Amino acid sequence: MSEKLEGNILVTGTNRGIGLELVKQLAEKTGEVAHIYACCREPAGTSAEALRDLTNQYPGKITLIKLDTSDEDSISAAVQAVSKLIGAGGLNLLINNAAINQPASPAPLSATRKNDMMDVYETNVVGPFLIAKMFLPLLQRSAEREKNKGDEMSCSRSAIINISTIISSIEKCPETFPIAQMYSYRTSKAALNMLTRCLAEDFKIHNILVAAIHPGWVRTDMGGEQAPLTTQDSVLGMLSVMSSLSNKDCGMLVDWQGNTIPW
Ligand SMILES: NC(=O)c1ccc[n+]([C@@H]2O[C@H](COP(=O)([O-])OP(=O)(O)OC[C@H]3O[C@@H](n4cnc5c(N)ncnc54)[C@H](OP(=O)(O)O)[C@@H]3O)[C@@H](O)[C@H]2O)c1
Repeated sequence: MSEKLEGNILVTGTNRGIGLELVKQLAEKTGEVAHIYACCREPAGTSAEALRDLTNQYPGKITLIKLDTSDEDSISAAVQAVSKLIGAGGLNLLINNAAINQPASPAPLSATRKNDMMDVYETNVVGPFLIAKMFLPLLQRSAEREKNKGDEMSCSRSAIINISTIISSIEKCPETFPIAQMYSYRTSKAALNMLTRCLAEDFKIHNILVAAIHPGWVRTDMGGEQAPLTTQDSVLGMLSVMSSLSNKDCGMLVDWQGNTIPW
């Protein structure tokens, strides 16, 4: 069954790429009761110009929030800002989209330094970990508000979606490794998958759904020009998948078309 995405929705890394398109389609497709908290590192900077234009196209629907996923103080300030704006309401959907991939692809062993491993882990794993931990009270509040739904979980009730990748799959490594080694990136996303699984186990008692989604190979700064998918098609697919997720999908890794990816 598919449920319309509604309520308070927060997305990280929204000034470009998939994050920007997520905000655009969420603003287009959700109804009047939805509000989008679009996070980025510099909401007032030149890198957020497209996001500010989008905000102006949908008056009252999108609020820009400063959030750097590699900075705990920044996450804490974002939690405070969102809590204040939401008031008695909760957070229905949190999408951990922001991520980095360094060094540039194909990132073989010889080109990957200790700092790349550490920086990528901090942004792609520690960030989503802290964000989940610190936004938990707001997610719990929205899950509690729909007590009448019993233990039914969904992205419209209360959920965390971590944007992962097919190259995080350990089982698929023999087929994906020759295309892109990406030591730092793929190990960080494998850790993000385990974080997803742990949070799913931990938060199911609160009826908060946690899952990971692979967006496909998408034409963005990260995905490059050769990528076959547009951000529009990837996000259209992912939002449709999100609106169909239920208890059976909690703790799973699926792709933008809803297919399960093996760990
Ligand atoms: N594109 C693909 O083919 C593909 C495939 C599989 C998975 N993914 C995943 O999809 C997601 C989006 O990727 P994308 O292709 O849209 O990448 P992108 O074009 O490189 O955009 C990355 C976004 O993350 C933000 N970001 C990076 N570090 C951040 C930090 N510390 N704090 C806050 N924001 C930060 C960037 O903001 P700044 O402008 O401030 O740097 C930017 O908005 C990522 O999780 C990625 O791993 C992408």
